[in-house]
Amino acid sequence: MRIPGSDSMLVFSTSDKGGTGRSVTSCNIAYRLCLRGHDVAYVDFDFGSPTAGALFEIGRVERGTTEGLGMHSYLSDVVGEPARLNVDRATDRLDLRRNPPGAGKLVLFPGDEGGAEFGCDDAMVERAAMLLSSLLGEFSVVMVDLSAGRSVALEIALRATVTDMLRQIRHRWLVFHRWTHQHVLAAGGLVHGDHGLIKTGEFWGHDGPRLLASTRCVRTAVPESEHKDEDSADHDDRAPLDVWLDEQAIMLRQLATKHRVGAARVLGQTPIEPMLQWREQLILDVDVDAQLANEATVEAYTNLARRLTNKATWDIE
Ligand SMILES: Nc1ncnc2c1ncn2[C@@H]1O[C@H](COP(=O)(O)OP(=O)(O)OP(=O)(O)O)[C@@H](O)[C@H]1O
Ligand SMILES: [Mg+2]
Repeated sequence: MRIPGSDSMLVFSTSDKGGTGRSVTSCNIAYRLCLRGHDVAYVDFDFGSPTAGALFEIGRVERGTTEGLGMHSYLSDVVGEPARLNVDRATDRLDLRRNPPGAGKLVLFPGDEGGAEFGCDDAMVERAAMLLSSLLGEFSVVMVDLSAGRSVALEIALRATVTDMLRQIRHRWLVFHRWTHQHVLAAGGLVHGDHGLIKTGEFWGHDGPRLLASTRCVRTAVPESEHKDEDSADHDDRAPLDVWLDEQAIMLRQLATKHRVGAARVLGQTPIEPMLQWREQLILDVDVDAQLANEATVEAYTNLARRLTNKATWDIE
């Protein structure tokens, strides 16, 4: 049993809107962390739409567990111990069963199928804190996918992290958003707005500046022109769409800065991945080898995993 301490990390995945790529990106980051040797727990706190089972291709919990042992049941005090599934043993995807030497373990704590949003009380916060605290004894990274928006899941997470059990633990808050005008506004609102992450956190006893320093945005499915060097672009020779995309990218960057979710607050971004436009899943190295997925996508997930666990990323300690 590990002692929860300086190298354990709690990571909460949030987003203002639904369908941002929060779960797909979080699962892929968890998988990349595991390949880098971390023992990772993936906890599904998306009470309305627990999709992690599908992403790890565990057919029997594709939309959450049906046995009444998921997170919903645990937090509601229906069961004492939640279900847990070792991804490499439970997955239906053969390539996910063969982890390379040196990889850590990856364990899913699924949600309940059909579980809906519920109210949050002190007992629920206490149970969440107890679970996360015990997982931090076993795993170096505990990733928690929260329901979208200013949800009960977000409130439970904010309240649990100021309990005595978790107060000393490093916690990180990732805000996922698409790279569009509305999504940038939404992400800015979720971080800085009334009833957003920082204000709600302060209400429950967090230190606002410290919570903000623990928060980063992840831009998902960013169109390719974002990755080009715009200075070298000769506007006359380029297709109208490329010129337009670059103009949008500049405007979006300005908008993000204005709403305080600009570059300094960004952990990283993912490119548009055709495979993910068709199917929610982990992108494995074999998918790149088979020329089904883009190498840039795997690089983006690896980069996010590296930046997340790199102390230099965080200006806190
Ligand atoms: N880099 C990407 N390129 C293309 N499509 C992507 C990318 N990342 C995610 N997607 C797709 O976007 C859709 C939404 O992703 P996902 O389900 O992870 O979002 P979410 O924010 O967790 O949504 P929800 O609020 O419903 O839980 C999925 O179909 C997913 O495959
Ligand atoms: Mg999701």
